[in-house]
Amino acid sequence: MKAGAAAEEIRQTAGDSAWFTRDRFGMFIHWGLYSLGARHEWLQSREFMDTEQYSKYFKRFDPDLYDPELWADLARDAGMKYFVVTTKHHEGFCLWDSKYTDYKATNTPAGRDLLRPMVDAFRSRGLKTGLYYSLLDWHHPDYTADVKHPLRFRNEFLEKDASRHFQNYVDYMFNQTRELLTEYGPVDLMFYDFSIPAEKGFPGKGKAEWQSEKLVKMIRELAPNILLNDRLQVGGDITTPEQYQPREWIRVNGRRVVWEACHTFSGSWGYYRDEESWKSVDMLVKMLIDTVSKGGNLLLNVGPTGRGEIDERAIDRLKGIGEWMKRHQRSIYGCTAAPDEFAVPDDCRFTYNPETNRLYLHIFSWPFKHLHLPGFSGRVEYAQLLNDASEIGMVEGKQEMTMEAGAFNEGRPADTLTLKLPVKKPNVTVPVIELFLK
Ligand code: GLC
Repeated sequence: MKAGAAAEEIRQTAGDSAWFTRDRFGMFIHWGLYSLGARHEWLQSREFMDTEQYSKYFKRFDPDLYDPELWADLARDAGMKYFVVTTKHHEGFCLWDSKYTDYKATNTPAGRDLLRPMVDAFRSRGLKTGLYYSLLDWHHPDYTADVKHPLRFRNEFLEKDASRHFQNYVDYMFNQTRELLTEYGPVDLMFYDFSIPAEKGFPGKGKAEWQSEKLVKMIRELAPNILLNDRLQVGGDITTPEQYQPREWIRVNGRRVVWEACHTFSGSWGYYRDEESWKSVDMLVKMLIDTVSKGGNLLLNVGPTGRGEIDERAIDRLKGIGEWMKRHQRSIYGCTAAPDEFAVPDDCRFTYNPETNRLYLHIFSWPFKHLHLPGFSGRVEYAQLLNDASEIGMVEGKQEMTMEAGAFNEGRPADTLTLKLPVKKPNVTVPVIELFLK
């Protein structure tokens, strides 16, 4: 009997999400002028800098060690299957040679289009392409004041607001979107960021201001299969919680949706030299598993330096994750939440592959010798550790445990299946038991 026949339906997406829910794991890249400040990608706003003050970075952006082939190797070897790069972040600076602005990489000491070789390198390794585009823009002259703007407290900036033509900025956004989709395609995913609620006397910016419906219509005409995130305030295909792990499969209006958690290695998206809250490989692998066990994707962020290298601390984590993925990717790709009928034991997470009908038991805290699975007796044909394909013995509910197995039937429910584990935890970050269901 195949499990999950009556699996709960997931809200349909307008774009093609088949690859996305199969691939599960992607690399986010935040790279821009803020990499030189090396203290968070919001520094322009946090430190209330005007264009003149911020121009010191534009004048000195010279990523001489930039090697997108290396970046793409790191992503692929970590097991990532797609990437999403900040083509333009809130600062307004463009990594590509846009014909609609001078505020772009070609006019810095970099002197070249930095996006094109990146998309080429990642695509040539089979990764799907996602482009992040900031709706906020702290450089465009017609972008009006809001609660996030770096110059929100400067009267000389606020006074000119009435003479700004926000429509010019909207046209700019539409033009750049068209440019990215036509000149850098095929683009599989667009990640727009973000809508601002009205706050502290400033008006918000949302679907009306961005003209989201019109924008989405244009995008769908240019790229019918593209996936869109949810920050344009008009639904979107992918729900994108940021920097937290949801408790369960995310629902919107009561329906399960396609979702993706995005996370940093440390507390910042852009390169932050002195940030010390780096997550361990162990924690990151558990976050990936936890995400897939709830039917989601994980987009893990790197913030390359101003010289164009991926931070060595990130490289260390990527390699650690890759080490685990090499032997355990079967419990991630093509997997999703297990059908509700399978109750998960303490300190564990299930993922499930509906195609192969295999259930993956991820053990976050290694128990002593026995793992009891109530309700599982008679349902598993074979069990093995995933890292080395070594058989795991099973005791069916009614069967007495032998003295050799070192346990008595201390009143287990008759439908319990007991897995007999080695005393020593396998030498992998998170051990996984592959259960071949009947
Ligand atoms: C936030 C931040 C931004 C970051 C993004 C990633 O919205 O403004 O700096 O790019 O989250 O999801």
